[in-house]
Amino acid sequence: MIELVKYEIRNGVAVITIDNPPVNALSPGVPEGISEKVDKACEDDSVKAIVLIGSGRTFIAGADIKEFGKLAAGKQANTDGLHSLMNAMEDAVKPIVCAIHGMALGGGFEVAMACHYRIAVPTAQTGQPEVKLGIIPGAGGTQRLPRLVGLAAAAEICATGRKIKAGEALKLGMIDELMDGDLLESAIAFANARAESGQALRKTRELTEKLKITDDDRMAIDRLKVAVGKKARGIAAPLKAIEAVEFAADHSFDEGCKKEKEIFFECLCSDASKGLIHVFFSERAVGKVPGITKKTPIKEIKQAAVIGAGTMGGGIVMNYANAGIAVTLKEADQERLDKGMAIIRKNYEATAKKGRLTTEQVEARMALITPTLNYEDIADADIVVEAVFENLELKKKVFTEIDAVAKAGALLASNTSTLDIDQIASATKRPEQVIGHHFFSPANVMKLLEIVRGKATSDETIATSLALAKKLRKVGVVVGNCFGFVGNRMFGPFNHEAQFLVEEGAKVEQVDSVLYEFGMAMGIFAVLDLAGNDVGWRIHQEIKDTLPEGIRQPLMTEPLYEKGRYGQKTGKGWYRYEPGNRTPLPDVELEELVSGAVAKTGIEQHEISSQEIIERCLYALVNEGARILGDNIALRSSDIDIIYIYGYGFPAQRGGPMFYADSIGLKKVYEKVCQFESDQGERWKPAPLLKDLAEAGKTFGEWDRER
Ligand code: 3HC
Ligand code: NAI
Repeated sequence: MIELVKYEIRNGVAVITIDNPPVNALSPGVPEGISEKVDKACEDDSVKAIVLIGSGRTFIAGADIKEFGKLAAGKQANTDGLHSLMNAMEDAVKPIVCAIHGMALGGGFEVAMACHYRIAVPTAQTGQPEVKLGIIPGAGGTQRLPRLVGLAAAAEICATGRKIKAGEALKLGMIDELMDGDLLESAIAFANARAESGQALRKTRELTEKLKITDDDRMAIDRLKVAVGKKARGIAAPLKAIEAVEFAADHSFDEGCKKEKEIFFECLCSDASKGLIHVFFSERAVGKVPGITKKTPIKEIKQAAVIGAGTMGGGIVMNYANAGIAVTLKEADQERLDKGMAIIRKNYEATAKKGRLTTEQVEARMALITPTLNYEDIADADIVVEAVFENLELKKKVFTEIDAVAKAGALLASNTSTLDIDQIASATKRPEQVIGHHFFSPANVMKLLEIVRGKATSDETIATSLALAKKLRKVGVVVGNCFGFVGNRMFGPFNHEAQFLVEEGAKVEQVDSVLYEFGMAMGIFAVLDLAGNDVGWRIHQEIKDTLPEGIRQPLMTEPLYEKGRYGQKTGKGWYRYEPGNRTPLPDVELEELVSGAVAKTGIEQHEISSQEIIERCLYALVNEGARILGDNIALRSSDIDIIYIYGYGFPAQRGGPMFYADSIGLKKVYEKVCQFESDQGERWKPAPLLKDLAEAGKTFGEWDRER
């Protein structure tokens, strides 16, 4: 049997080491192991003190999240074991010193708080990130933390879930000392000193000093509630975490833990928590790509080049500079190059103004960027990312030019949002090193990177791209090559359906507000106005001759373009905008334009319900998603969920479009799609996979697991 918790005696100190790779989660067996080893140490007369430490790369990353599904289904307060362990640790008769390296998060920091003392290396991080999973700390965290750091700080830490670096943790009182050098040796010496001091052992749960609430605390908590409430978007946990912390002010520790337990289970059983936990594991699953193993070679990227200093090129360059990678920015035109560089500087300076970068950091990042008009200057790059206009012939020409100058072995990536990677690769003599790196706008902000695999793309190119995505702090999702790949291919039917709803009588702002209330970051028409309706028109020009006959197309593509209603950039689009203001305002002129276009057709306008908006917009996404899975363009339904959450503002608490469909029930979704097909025609033809799963009573999640 694998021993999850190890025990040895060093210099009169019992060293209890948690050894549950990869992150020492509190999986079944770990709390029991700690408890047993603490008892053993207390009973051994040769032991004067105890050190609790983690092996491998971290202390304890928290409770085992895999267990939460079982807990929620049983709806039982099964954290009792953790509570008993922590109380027993505090009641131990010998000093317990917690030695933290890496992360002490969630249940991990709750264990640390139950030790009598906490020391850490300067690179350690602590925190209560449970809210990011839609829950609150469930092993006494909301009650012990305020006793260490005060109510206002504890409320902030539990409600935001942010990670706290060791230096700040020390100032706040979360840890007692920072130690350079060998952590275990320092911890043993610290523990011996505590034992020899003969001082009474400090039990966190018995501290009361910091529970006194001042007027400042009250005001800080009130401000926090407003800020958190604004961001909550249907996730109860952050406000509930504050409620649990506040409860500590005028209740005993045990009463506080009882309250915490009630809230913890209420949150754990919520749909938001299920969605967020799905996102946690899905985000980690995207890195698992058949054929790519730890042995697949990865090229080191020390030097990059980006071609095109437009909207995307500039953002991509910033990603590289932010990751400390030197990057050359090549343009065709001096004026655009200067403009591109000026925008990059302006963006960095705006971040510095908000206090998130120092002036030195801005200059250091700018110094990593070399502007040029010459191809020769990209010859040393380990990767070249093309971000020129979306035109296949231009991209092929540019790739031939890059291929001629780039060094042997350099990766050649295209940021195309729709075009055929194989065609682009065919313009080079190294198709195995050609790949799509589809960033999302604004590229320096959005977390998604679609990694598009062409038919010749090598495993090494894919493995390098996945590793690079991490370095650039993106979530890289490997997808297949087709028009629009995953994200934009699904966006097509979603966008069209929203427009059809407006043609049929819904108001633009009605559709947007229903989608926003559902949790989307922005309504779809606000997104279209932000991206530019001229862009949609251009894509339409490229593909209009290839569209299948008899499939309904939106009426407004041409009228919006003809009237110059490109969106925010021209002050009007689906909405109107006041000068210098990005707030979308409903526009009667737009309504008249729609009515005019509709009058020439047989479309009958009628009242549209919120439910119809949700079902038609979201099921359009789901049906296309199912088709994409059937076509092997995405590896897993959960990959699609990640793409929509990180690239398209889909609410994480809904778990992504495919998880959302699973939560509704695929039978119900399928029946609705069939009804839409009979009401609306061919475009709603159900995807074969949706039909199969619905008939088999299965979910997309099960389909993922069975593959
Ligand atoms: N439970 C179960 N598995 C976990 C886990 C956890 N708490 N934390 C990480 N893992 C798994 C991941 O799923 C991944 O598995 P895989 O290799 O099979 O895909 C593996 O550990 C490595 O994780 P990462 O890829 O995320 O590794 P990183 O080094 O990038 O990040 C980390 C490490 C910062 C610790 C990150 O994993 C993380 O944030 N983990 C979750 C932390 C957290 O939310 N803790 C609170 C849990 S809830 C709780 O404690 C409730 C309590 O109050 C009762
Ligand atoms: P853009 O029009 O802002 O910038 C393109 C730039 O490329 C221009 O500055 C142009 O001068 C430059 N360029 C053209 N030919 C060149 C050459 N031969 N050598 C060097 N530079 C050259 O376009 P944008 O929006 O940045 O789009 C670029 C690519 O990114 C397109 O393929 C687009 O589909 C894709 N994309 C765009 C997104 C967006 O929201 N704008 C999102 C994701 C991808």
